[in-house]
Formats: sequence, structure tokens, C-alpha cells
Amino acid sequence: MRRFRVRASIILPVLALVLAAAGGVVAATQSSDEQALQPIRQQADGDIERRVNALISRMTLQEKLEQIQLLPDFMVTEEEVRNGLGSVLSVTDPARIRELQRIAVEESRLKIPILFAFDTIHGFRTIFPIPLGAGASFDPRVAFNDHKFGARESAVVGLKQTYAPMVDVSHEPRWGRIAEAAGEDPYLNSVLGAARVKAIQGRDYSARDKLVASPKHLVAYGQPESGRDYNTTDMSEQRLRNFYLPPFKAAIDAGADTVMCSFNAINGVPGCGNDDMMNRILKGEWGFDGFVEGDWTAVAELRACPPKTPDTGPCGHGVVADGPAAAALALNAGVDSEMTSTLIRDFGAQLLAQGRISIRRIDDAVRRILRVKFRAGLFEHPYAPVTPDKAEAEMLKPDAVAAARKAASRSMVLLQNKGGILPLDPAKKTAVIGPLANNQHDMLGPWWGAGRDSDVVTVLDGIRQQSPGATFAEGCKLSNAEPPTTDPEGCGSDAGFAEAVATARAADQVVLALGETREMSGEAASRSTLDLPGRQEELLRAIKETGKPFAVVLFNGRPLALEGVVDDAPAILEAWFPGVQAGPAVADVVFGNVNPGGKLPVTFPRRLGQVPIYYNHEPTGRPCDPNQKYVSRHRDIPSCSPLFVFGHGLSYTTFEVSDLRLSASTVSRNGSLQASVTVANTGRRKGDEVVQLYLHDPVASISQPVRRLRGFERVTLSPGASRTVTFTLDKSDFGFYDNRGKFIVEPGRIDVYAGNSSSADMTRSFTVRA
Ligand code: BGC
Repeated sequence: MRRFRVRASIILPVLALVLAAAGGVVAATQSSDEQALQPIRQQADGDIERRVNALISRMTLQEKLEQIQLLPDFMVTEEEVRNGLGSVLSVTDPARIRELQRIAVEESRLKIPILFAFDTIHGFRTIFPIPLGAGASFDPRVAFNDHKFGARESAVVGLKQTYAPMVDVSHEPRWGRIAEAAGEDPYLNSVLGAARVKAIQGRDYSARDKLVASPKHLVAYGQPESGRDYNTTDMSEQRLRNFYLPPFKAAIDAGADTVMCSFNAINGVPGCGNDDMMNRILKGEWGFDGFVEGDWTAVAELRACPPKTPDTGPCGHGVVADGPAAAALALNAGVDSEMTSTLIRDFGAQLLAQGRISIRRIDDAVRRILRVKFRAGLFEHPYAPVTPDKAEAEMLKPDAVAAARKAASRSMVLLQNKGGILPLDPAKKTAVIGPLANNQHDMLGPWWGAGRDSDVVTVLDGIRQQSPGATFAEGCKLSNAEPPTTDPEGCGSDAGFAEAVATARAADQVVLALGETREMSGEAASRSTLDLPGRQEELLRAIKETGKPFAVVLFNGRPLALEGVVDDAPAILEAWFPGVQAGPAVADVVFGNVNPGGKLPVTFPRRLGQVPIYYNHEPTGRPCDPNQKYVSRHRDIPSCSPLFVFGHGLSYTTFEVSDLRLSASTVSRNGSLQASVTVANTGRRKGDEVVQLYLHDPVASISQPVRRLRGFERVTLSPGASRTVTFTLDKSDFGFYDNRGKFIVEPGRIDVYAGNSSSADMTRSFTVRA
């Protein structure tokens, strides 16, 4: 039933609009519309399999090994392409893509088209908010539109695969890549991941504006020890199954036809050498018939590094001794396509002769790759839908830009608003201050695709469009330099503070744009602190001293530790990295044209020492109590709670969520029931509320998380209006995986909580019958 609900909740804007117009009851289960996006590839599969087999029967061993090879732009030569290279990543120049494809389909012996791939993660040229921001929207349409336009713009230059969605659940805010997925919750990641897959692929990814999706990184890459990227992960089977695998399953169920295996080792087994994960679970249990690509040199990294010879290329995990063994392990464990390193291609023939790999397995990998190429329609349409000279005109079209602006404002979270400082009055004189105020570069976030800094409308310009004459002072400069540098984060000097203070004094109100640079998030960008970099807190206090009303707008790719900020900043708006329309979207929210309705998709700690801290933690025998000694607490933090809980977010209006009711008090293990709540706008402005439903199983053979999100719906209500939201619950909601990987449903009581954050306290219970 959860599969069904995941799909129901990503139903397209059309359905949502119809329901919104109808008002009244929003049921989270609508079957006819979900079918609109069911993959239709099945009908063509018989024919495709025949064509794949015919092609394989004509291929030499070397041509098969070339198909398995996936190379980045800088390694590709025309000779490689003539030899039958399978896939290429990270070329975005449409003329180069076209020429390489021409060589492939005209000059290679079998004329097999190349699959061109790219990281279109939150937009190709029209950059949307980072996925963590989209997670905060709690709106599948935001994730859907991001990839609808991302796929369209990517396809125009000749790309046909994207390495997205990233669905790595993470409880690790130090990790820079927490920016790339929807945060700490498996359910939210599942719903938004499925929406992204459907937007990328549509019903049939041979469509000229669609790509094949590649959820990544299989698996548990989001939980590296100490938050350092690529680092080891160790976890129980039940954790893996209950927290980290569900978004991958949801993405596969939504039709994703390729998957990327991860760099990290889990329980000592590296992602791209993990037979259990790729062969048994993904290809076996889940019936995945697409292909798995290894992440960048991840196949080579399986091997041990030889002592004292640093120049032997990627290595490190040490689960095999050398390159040939790494190739054999990866292929046998389920990698079908090797990215950047070339070990399968280099040693395939030798390994086959030695009996360490089989021709059956090579054929299987090639079959999977060709199957995807056929499904992608590459044999019929190897080239982009428009000629290279026409590609630029397809970028940043008004519908895409408008969607990016809407996505950015829907992703913003109003963390606090003491005294109702926000919204500001645009007719008053506004000062825009801070290192991120007049900044194009950082607004794009860590995966800017083919986006350009010059495409970005800055916060200052966005504010000026709505509050003409707004003034500006930078205060201090953040650093975009890569470490090692003496000042890796920047904003180390207060030389600009006096000017900032004078600018604030001369205005009626201040928008203070603080946060991180885009280089501080994303791949290889872990931080050892969650504080505002540099002396930004001091800048904030200097602005506070002026006595002017002000609001802090934060730009960042991870939860920050804002303990030193909350007392001094009356209003805090979390804007993440909003993309090309950063300025207009910030202005929309700051001046109240858009009422913020986002919610935190990740817990914000008080300070780093609380990490990992997440709402869906397991209970302990010594629950935290700040006033007790022998309990699970930090003795130097006078509280057990984070600063802002998962699901938290304010609005310029007020809401009441009430009247939680269940359709039954007992349910059979295979049965289902409905939980309904009423949400009412009790304030004076139109606004959005995210109704959230959580479950807890208080008595289970494996101690269950204190709360688990199992349903949400973002609704828009006019003042005085109310609506009933209904969620359907079944065994996928009240069951769980055990430590042998078995899904079990145990009889007993289940507690249901509903409200507008993970600390909602309205509760009812039902019983699962034996
Ligand atoms: C990243 C992947 C990405 C790939 C190709 C790797 O370093 O881990 O997420 O898709 O590069 O750019």
C-alpha cells in the first residue's frame, strides 16, 4: 500500500489543482491518475529483447567490453568511439555530443549509439533549489518540476541519462552531500525520489524530452563515519532495510532503469563490490532489469594500494589485491558499466580465459546496457531533438524559470519570526546586507549542472525589484577557495562591518543574507563544524545593535548549528541554495507575496556535539532527561531536544490540526485503515500547512523508532478555511524489517501522531490483530 501511496502522492500538478479547486476532502489515494505515469516500456520489451540478442550475437568480446566502458569527456577519443565505446559522461557541448554520436553510429562497426550521461541534479541550465531544499517543500511537485525541466534542457543537448535522483538518507550534517537528497527521512526521500524518477523518465523515456534516471548511491553513502565523504559505514541489516533502502526501492518501483553503486564500504563491503546488494537485492528481490554503473573509479578503488607507490591510480578498500581482481569482483557482484577506470575492459579477456568471469555474465551486463539504450530510443533517435545551434534557445525558457522561482520559495522554511517581523513592508527603505546578498555564484548550490553564475538574480536585485532603492553592504567576504588555505571559510575580518552598520542605520529595515558558500556543500565538502562560517555571527550582532528590524536569510547546504543566532535574530528564513531565481524568490517570501510553508527535512541541532541527532531515533532504556544523571544525555547541554525539529516550519498565518480519527480500532496484518485529520487556517492570511502523520510501534521485537513519518500533505488554505486530509495505512506502514532482512508485521498496538511537525502530540491508537 505504501507503494501505492507513494505514487498517489506524486500525482501530477493536474490532480492537485483539481483537488485544490474542489476543496473539501483530500484523499491520499487516487488510482486513475497515478496510472498516467506508469512506465509503458513493457509493451515494447519483447521486441527489444529480440533486437538486443541479435546485436549481442554479432558482437566480439572486445566490443562487449567496450559497451561496458563509461568514460568522462576528458578521456574520450574518436578512436575509442570507433571501437564501440558504450557511454560517456559530462559532455554538455551539443556540438561535441553530436559529433561523437555521429562517429558512433556511422563509423563504429556495429553502429551502436553512445549513451550520454550527466549530473542533472537540481536543474541543467535553469538551476532549481538544492534537493535538500526541495525536501523542505514537502511537495512532490517541486521535485517533479525540477527534473521535468532538467530533463528537457538536458535532452536538448543530446544527453539521455542523468545520475539522479540522489536518494541517500543521511543523519550526518557534516557530510557535504546531505545537500543532494531530501534529508533524514526514508519516507520523504521515497516520495520525492519517486516523483523525480517519474519526471526524468515520464512513461517512456524514449520521449525526446526525457532521460533515463539513475538513483544513487547504492547504498548507505549518507552515513559516513565522522561525516567525511567516502568514509566507511557500518550498520545493522534492520537499519539498512528500514532507513536506507526504501528510497531506492521507491525509485525502482517508479521505473528507474539504471542505478549507481557507491564509493563507501558498508560493513566492510564496498558498494561496487557488493554482491548481496546488487545481485541479490536489487536484481533479484526487486527484479531490476536495467544496468548498474559504478561510481567514478569506484571499481578501481576496490583494490589495495601498493605500499609506497602512490602513482598507481585509484585504490584503497583492499578487498582484492590488484586490478584484474577488482574487475572480476565488480562484474561478478553486479556492476554492469565501469565509470572512468577501465579495469573490466583492460582485463576482461584475460579474466575470461582464466575462468574468473563468465561470458554469461559479460553478456548479461551488455544486455542490460543495450536494453536501456533501446528503451531510450537511441537506435531510432541517436541525436538530440534539435541541432546544436538551436540548443541555447531552449535554455532558461520562461516556464522553466517560473517553475524555479516557485520551487525556491516553496522550499523556504520560516524557522522563527519573533514579533511577526516578517513579512517586511516593501514600501519602506530596505538594506540588504551580508556576504550572500549580492552574490550570484553561491546561489546555484553544489551541483550547478550547466548553470552559469550570470543566470542568477541575486538577493539584492530580487529585493530591489520589489523594494526599489534598496541599499547594500557586504559586511565580509566568504571564501570560495579550496583547502588547504589559511582561511578556508572566509569572512575572517570585520573591516566591512562599519559600512554594514552605517547602511543598516540609514535604512528602515534589513535583510541579512548569511550562510555558506556553495563550495562548502556537495561532494568532497565535509565540514568539521556546523557554525556560520567566519565572523558572520558577529556581523549579525553588529546589525542587531542598530536596533533596526531585521530578518536573517540563510543560504546553506546542510543543517547549521544556530544556537548562537536564535537569540539575536528575531526572524530567520532558511532559503538553502535556491538556484537561478534566488533573489525574486527571497523577495517573494520576505515581502509576503508568498507565504512560506516549507518544513525542515532534517533536524537542526543546537550544536555539533549532538550529532547525529534525528527525529526517527530508536528509544533507549535510559531516555534523555536533562534533570537526571544516569540517562542518555549530554551533561553540558541543558536540553534533550534539537534547536529545530524535523518537520518544523512557521507561516505568516496560523493553523490548527485537529480531530485525528481512525476508520477502525483494529486491523488484520494484511488489512488497511484510514487516518484522517482536519486542518484549519486560523489566521488572517492565505497559507500552506504540511499535515504530517507519524507512527510508533511501542512494543516490537526490534526496538522501533520513536516516530516514523508515514504520510504528509501540503495544503493551501484561505483564512477561515479547513480541510480534511486522509491517509491510508497498511502493513508497509506498521511492519518493519528485522535483522535477517525479513519484513515482519507483529500484532499489538500502534500509536498514530498527527500535526505539523515531528513533535506533534495529538495521538490515537489501533491494534494489529494476531
Ligand atoms: C559522484 C557521483 C557522480 C559522478 C559523476 C562522482 O564523483 O559521486 O554522484 O554522479 O561523480 O559525475
